[in-house]
Amino acid sequence: MAFFGRKKLTVGLDVGSGLVKAVVIDHTSGSPELVKVVVTPLADTAIVEGEVMDHALVADAIRQTIDATGVKTKQIVSAVGGRDVIVKKIQIERVKDAQARELMRWEAEQHVPFDMESVELDFQILDPDAEGLEMSVLLVAAKRELVEAKRDLLTDAGAAPAVIDVDAFALHNAFALNHPDAMRGTVALLNIGHEATNLNILDDGIPILTRDLTVGTRRFREDLQRDHGESADDAEALLRGFDRTIALDGVAALRGEELAIGMERAATFLATSSRSFGQLRAIYVCGGGARVPGLLGWLASRMRIPVELANPLARLTIRDGAMEFLSTDEVAPLLMLPVGLALRAAA
Ligand SMILES: Nc1ncnc2c1ncn2[C@@H]1O[C@H](COP(=O)(O)OP(=O)(O)OP(=O)(O)O)[C@@H](O)[C@H]1O
Ligand SMILES: [Mg+2]
Repeated sequence: MAFFGRKKLTVGLDVGSGLVKAVVIDHTSGSPELVKVVVTPLADTAIVEGEVMDHALVADAIRQTIDATGVKTKQIVSAVGGRDVIVKKIQIERVKDAQARELMRWEAEQHVPFDMESVELDFQILDPDAEGLEMSVLLVAAKRELVEAKRDLLTDAGAAPAVIDVDAFALHNAFALNHPDAMRGTVALLNIGHEATNLNILDDGIPILTRDLTVGTRRFREDLQRDHGESADDAEALLRGFDRTIALDGVAALRGEELAIGMERAATFLATSSRSFGQLRAIYVCGGGARVPGLLGWLASRMRIPVELANPLARLTIRDGAMEFLSTDEVAPLLMLPVGLALRAAA
């Protein structure tokens, strides 16, 4: 009879290509409290270009990660992303939620280049309290295959049933909670992972564009190995270190240029598709790649706007021992996505 003590825990599970990450948030008190973080490395060959190559290995890493949280909850929130997920802001006539749901399939046919029989759709009304004849809706379409593959992976890890969210939304949720200052004007959030970088552009806090760039710490590491003769371990240590070296500066410039071009292309696309789009005011960076010494400074001088490290733990209460032997400063930048997932309150 632990009625009053009933905990409302959510486990946010991010199956990244470099690290499987679980974040546990306690929602009992109404303000989210971080109670546990677990990070498990994955072999390079386990997930390649967003595809799970070694199902058993990844399922094992998920099982280990969830076991290590020590939480028995079935409230596990995970997400899908990548090129088989489309997020698009559209304008439709203002209708009630239930009616919008009906309209969405028809709208999706106009906006989504996938076969409608094989997608799962979701949407979010961005201006529910506004008046006027039209409303802005964020339409999400994910290939059903992708969602089912994720569910299978979780089931095989003994972690079902699960809620499957969308990467871009989870990143946005964690960012909005921790960086209210970034919710005005137009800003970019870059989550630089192991294989990919998720780019989200927000306009007054509303996500208006999301895309993936094929840059990640794996590329940085391979550059250091190829061009500077570093071993894989030494290269990795440089990327996670705190000191700049000439070798790192070269790599930051090479891959930073790809990130800069990705952001410029996205901004040009927005400027041509929406008259109201202004200039990017600032860039916020998270993910393992955000830690590469010298990268943020390089991006700031290349883009000529402020570039800041985004911290998903900035406004969370952290319970003693939640990080155990992990170093908060070193791991925090990597947790934007799993924190966003765990922020979904338990039902
Ligand atoms: N403290 C750390 N522990 C482990 N890896 C780190 C750390 N700091 C930086 N890294 C680097 O960051 C990478 C992981 O970053 P992140 O967790 O953002 O990627 P991911 O989510 O696994 O990848 P992706 O999103 O591209 O699939 C590692 O592969 C490593 O190169
Ligand atoms: Mg990631």
